[in-house]
Amino acid sequence: EAGDPAKGEKEFKKCKACHMIQAPDGTDVVKGGKTGPNLYGVVGRKAGTEEGFKYSDALIKLGEAGEIWTTEDLEHYITDPNKYVEEKVGDKSLKTKMTFKMAKNQADVVAFLAQHSPE
Ligand code: HEM
Repeated sequence: EAGDPAKGEKEFKKCKACHMIQAPDGTDVVKGGKTGPNLYGVVGRKAGTEEGFKYSDALIKLGEAGEIWTTEDLEHYITDPNKYVEEKVGDKSLKTKMTFKMAKNQADVVAFLAQHSPE
């Protein structure tokens, strides 16, 4: 079921302690922290490839395994990042640096991210 981006914008308050959404020209869609990568354009981007961010081996391996973020994949990833990587890469020892898990309204927040993923 498709999420509601307006609701997702409110839900993104839970993410912005660690993530900003900043366009390539420097425009801030959402001002946020730098603990996690910039999420501008994340839908359609290869996992673990935001320029300048130091990812865990888990996210690097996920990208190498061919993960191009779809909205559906992102909904599952934010529900339980470690479980998602384990299932996709098949290595239980890989741990992501994202400790946050989102238990509900995942589709809404992903619909908001999709709004800021041009292409
Ligand atoms: C990575 C989304 C909340 C810290 C990511 C990625 C996505 C994402 C899509 C992978 C990006 C990529 O491959 O370039 C979200 C969303 C959140 C959220 C939608 C809210 C619902 C948080 C919070 C924190 C955090 C609250 C900090 C406490 C991180 C870190 C990474 C990451 C450190 C890099 C993971 C690694 O290298 O293993 N996040 N995130 N995130 N996020 Fe979040």
